[in-house]
Amino acid sequence: MVKRAGGSLLLSIKIDRGSHQPVSTQLCIALRDLILTGGFRAGERLPASRTLARDLGLSRTTVIEVFDRLVAEGLVESRTGAGTFVSAVLNASRPRPPQLDAPSMVRTAPRLSTMMAQAVGRFGDRQRLPHMPRAFTTALPAFDVFPMAQWARLSAKYLRGARDELMGYGDPDGSPQLRRALASHLRANRGITCDPGQIFIVGGAQQAFHLIGSTLLNPGEKVWFENPGAIGARNSLIACGAELVPVPVDAEGLQVGEALRLSPEFRLAFVTPSHQQPMGCVMSLERRFALLHAAERAGAWVIEDDYDGEFFFGGRPPPTLKSVDTTGQVIYVGTFSKSLFPALRLGYMLVPPTLVDTFRTIMGKFLQGVPSQTQALVAAFLDDGHFAAHVRRMRHIYLERHGALLAASRKHLTGLLDVVPTHSGLHTVAYLPPAVSEVAISREADRHHVTASPIGRFALAPVAANGLVLGFGGVPPKLIDAGVEVLAQVLEARLGPVAARRAGARR
Ligand SMILES: Cc1ncc(COP(=O)(O)O)c(C=O)c1O
Repeated sequence: MVKRAGGSLLLSIKIDRGSHQPVSTQLCIALRDLILTGGFRAGERLPASRTLARDLGLSRTTVIEVFDRLVAEGLVESRTGAGTFVSAVLNASRPRPPQLDAPSMVRTAPRLSTMMAQAVGRFGDRQRLPHMPRAFTTALPAFDVFPMAQWARLSAKYLRGARDELMGYGDPDGSPQLRRALASHLRANRGITCDPGQIFIVGGAQQAFHLIGSTLLNPGEKVWFENPGAIGARNSLIACGAELVPVPVDAEGLQVGEALRLSPEFRLAFVTPSHQQPMGCVMSLERRFALLHAAERAGAWVIEDDYDGEFFFGGRPPPTLKSVDTTGQVIYVGTFSKSLFPALRLGYMLVPPTLVDTFRTIMGKFLQGVPSQTQALVAAFLDDGHFAAHVRRMRHIYLERHGALLAASRKHLTGLLDVVPTHSGLHTVAYLPPAVSEVAISREADRHHVTASPIGRFALAPVAANGLVLGFGGVPPKLIDAGVEVLAQVLEARLGPVAARRAGARR
């Protein structure tokens, strides 16, 4: 506690010796606060360094060092022989001290843009995506089998490179090596022929959706959106001012005929043709052609979100929408969040030739690219063949986990929850008996540390399906078994074991 020479209480400065913050930094922050909030007046003399040091139990050297810092910041002036004074400049330009109890500071929310204010109001609290594997999160791939040793070797090799190559700004459109590697990957595995110049590397698919929406949409323009559909893309497009048209999906994907009836005019359509998010169906070829046709007639773009299309179990995967896009309507978005891991925050968009110049300008003017090191590692991973091998291996692992989920469900969930087999990806859906609330079951499961999102969470408008979305890819088999048992207990507690089995689960 430090007192003014006259004895009145001048200021309270508490130094915490257990803190990780050096005492000199603590003192500097405290004095700076007092100066900026009016504890000291402009021109007022600070206590002598000797006095301050004695009262606070600090060395005088520490106090002098802090005074020097404040002099360098221009907040105080040192006058030889006279002491240290609060800078006179603060007379005119001192920021108004915050009045925390004033209604304007406490209650008035900052003014946001109309579009963002609407979006923020609509989405409620922010959500953190899962960080750790847990039954049955949908967002994560299998961490337990990722070839971390290979990754570490590539990383060390990269960092041994020439500094001049490593440390500057990268190409704003994305690493040329990665874009070339992706063009070959897309040709070999997704049936897409493109020039690497059409590919832009972004900070995850989520950034691509926002970028596409803010570049191509005017506020209020209509976007056909799968209902239920992908939450992240939905949020990004709404935040760009789009008016989303919820279009029902069935076993063949987005119902194009219904979309045309709901809104013949549209500027953009968002689809997940390879593995509908969240229902898991594959869009039929007929629907794909119908969608491309409708988009061409309306002069609309189509976003194809191919977030987990690499993981197709058996047989040949259906073609991507992009591979049959002859008129250049489709913007294909890919991500490494499922094929490698989400902490990379790395995705890409492949745009039609007519949009290349636009996105080149945007990347160069506003974004300046995403971290070069991450791009270089992923490029090397692809070029050295590790990526193809990893994806091949993961297909087997995801197929096994899918099998483990179905086997455990047959054992414990018959009559309670109808888990639907899927042909690809890392998640599927499971239907509840009609009378059972998906939200209540999801909440109860969460209390037992099991994630099972209600299908309604993905819905823009009410949907008929009543059930849960279950991720299996990121969940080790032991956790799958334990998670299924938890779901069985939760459902039996609600339905009663006998009644439940008699009622039978229905789609
Ligand atoms: C439908 C869908 N698209 C894309 C992604 C990937 O987004 P990002 O690349 O931003 O991690 C996810 C992640 O869970 C998803 O569910």
